[in-house]
Amino acid sequence: MPGSPVVLRRAPARNGRTWTLSGMGHGWSRQRAQVVIKMIVAASLTGLCMFILGQSSAGGSLDMFSRKEGGVTHVMVTGGAGYIGSHAALRLLQDGYRVTIVDNLSRGNMGAVDMLRALFPKPGHLQFLCVDLGDSQAVQEVFAKNAIDAVMHFAAVAYVGESMAEPLRYYHNITSNTLGLLEAMVKYDVKTLIYSSTCATYGEPETMPITEITPQVPINPYGKAKKMAEDIILDYSKINPELRVMILRYFNVIGSDPKGRLGEAPRPELRAHGRISGACFDAAMGQIPGLKVHGQDYKTEDGTCIRDYIHVTDLVDAHVKALKHAMPNNVGIYNVGTGKGRSVKEFVEACIKATGVNMTVSYLERRAGDYAEVYSDSSKIQRELNWTAQHLDLTETLNVAWKWRQAHPNGY
Ligand SMILES: NC(=O)c1ccc[n+]([C@@H]2O[C@H](COP(=O)([O-])OP(=O)(O)OC[C@H]3O[C@@H](n4cnc5c(N)ncnc54)[C@H](O)[C@@H]3O)[C@@H](O)[C@H]2O)c1
Repeated sequence: MPGSPVVLRRAPARNGRTWTLSGMGHGWSRQRAQVVIKMIVAASLTGLCMFILGQSSAGGSLDMFSRKEGGVTHVMVTGGAGYIGSHAALRLLQDGYRVTIVDNLSRGNMGAVDMLRALFPKPGHLQFLCVDLGDSQAVQEVFAKNAIDAVMHFAAVAYVGESMAEPLRYYHNITSNTLGLLEAMVKYDVKTLIYSSTCATYGEPETMPITEITPQVPINPYGKAKKMAEDIILDYSKINPELRVMILRYFNVIGSDPKGRLGEAPRPELRAHGRISGACFDAAMGQIPGLKVHGQDYKTEDGTCIRDYIHVTDLVDAHVKALKHAMPNNVGIYNVGTGKGRSVKEFVEACIKATGVNMTVSYLERRAGDYAEVYSDSSKIQRELNWTAQHLDLTETLNVAWKWRQAHPNGY
């Protein structure tokens, strides 16, 4: 589990010397000196907390977040400093929602939050709370102090490969944190939850496209942890039909804010687990020697894997529609994809066009665990929420994301 990003450590004593404070060397007992040091540390911590609190609530008075206001819906966006969460927060703020971002910054970017703050500086619009969802007491406190109407729960670790290497981390971070969040919602009577799930919960279905009733047989800890979290939510909704729950199962999310305000900036150490657009841009920037495509002997038209790439702007639109349509007694489960499969080769060609960089592409053996074809049937969300994907031009989507990446070569 990622811990709090603020780690306070006592600096190691230099040259083997211990700390001394001037004037304390002789008459003071060691014990009294320690008491003074503790007082100073406590005072510094208090100051630091007040500073963080001041920073966190900048852009809104705490009081506005703590009371209900007619006509204003207050949404808690967990993981709002991350890629999808920050785009969702932007859309919600644009639409006049009050937003509380809850993120421990283990993977997100404070730069994204700062951008949102700069765009929505008025009091009562946006607050950022640096909280680890694994800390149930801290989570309960957030609900105790804020008049939350609905939760969009994006926060998660989200890399399939990493989940194979660190399964327990995934079960803690995804399954157990969702359970804790749900308990806090129940305790504080927050009834609306929009949950970020994934097509990884389906595993490797035999028939395509994937519909919402395709059996869920996840094949890696990431997909399993998400499915377990879904099951917890569904079981709890059965005995609490007043809950308004929407579960959205996303396919492969790409792209960035069309106005270039936000982008995707994973930590460098996560790139190895990577997503394809990140890898394409890394190659185009010369940060990696070239692009490696695994497998060109799949039973697909051009031999490479087929995936369904959904634009982040379309995805957050699905969230806003889900929020509006969420109702008691009727859990909504929806695939969010374009309904159209694109081959990896097609994606790479679009990336070359979008970046204008003719990067080296090498085709390697298949990678264990990759499946040939995954794409959605998204007709249910079209029918019931009146949602359709708008951004279908891969080159255009990648071109916008590439511009953001060029402007932010090292992230935010
Ligand atoms: N990106 C995709 O293609 C994709 C596809 C399907 C589903 N999803 C789901 O969408 C959600 C968002 O994914 P993303 O791509 O934006 O990831 P991301 O890593 O960019 O964002 C996740 C955010 O959650 C925060 N976080 C993680 N653990 C936390 C904790 N314990 N407490 C508080 N904050 C915590 C991170 O700091 C980060 O800001 C995830 O739930 C993911 O499973 C993503």
